[in-house]
Amino acid sequence: MDSESLTAAVRSLVWPVCLVGAKENDKHNVMTVAWISQVSHDPLLVMVSIAPGRFTHDMIARTGEFMVSILNAEQQEVSTFCGSRSGRDVDKIAHLNLKTEPAKIIKVPRLAGCVANLECRVVSRHTAGDHTLFIGEVVAADVAAGEIQPLIMYRGKPVRFR
Ligand SMILES: Cc1cc2nc3c(=O)[nH]c(=O)nc-3n(C[C@H](O)[C@H](O)[C@H](O)COP(=O)(O)O)c2cc1C
Repeated sequence: MDSESLTAAVRSLVWPVCLVGAKENDKHNVMTVAWISQVSHDPLLVMVSIAPGRFTHDMIARTGEFMVSILNAEQQEVSTFCGSRSGRDVDKIAHLNLKTEPAKIIKVPRLAGCVANLECRVVSRHTAGDHTLFIGEVVAADVAAGEIQPLIMYRGKPVRFR
């Protein structure tokens, strides 16, 4: 198989679309991340895979904290904007008028209206090819009440649970 076919096959993995937030001094930035997973139960650990060129990458590396905000199915435009523009050039939170709430433990704010917010402290990082895997311990969280559809993508397109 050629590399394009291999990439297309790997894109058959289902993506849970999230925003990963970081805050350094007064600068709060969010980026869209789909390469994310729980990797341990005890301690409760999640992994986010972030390319070194992203503005968010070095903010997380320097502060040792990040917020995972799991997007809901109505937030596709948020995902597209935060996944195509860099915090180096634009204040994405102000541009999209995203509502923030203080976190309980870390300095990075939560985002209102998401499926859940996970407050994470970096416990380790690993280079994986052209990305960095940040492993974070979930130290606090909130979850939306009631039925709320997450934003999930399959082969580059949003899909819904039936
Ligand atoms: C649906 C979607 C998923 C994405 N997933 C990732 C990801 O898992 N890791 C990554 O490094 N970039 C990912 N990106 C690209 C970044 O979100 C994008 O480069 C962003 O502009 C980086 O923002 P920043 O420079 O403010 O950190 C994704 C983009 C989209 C639209």
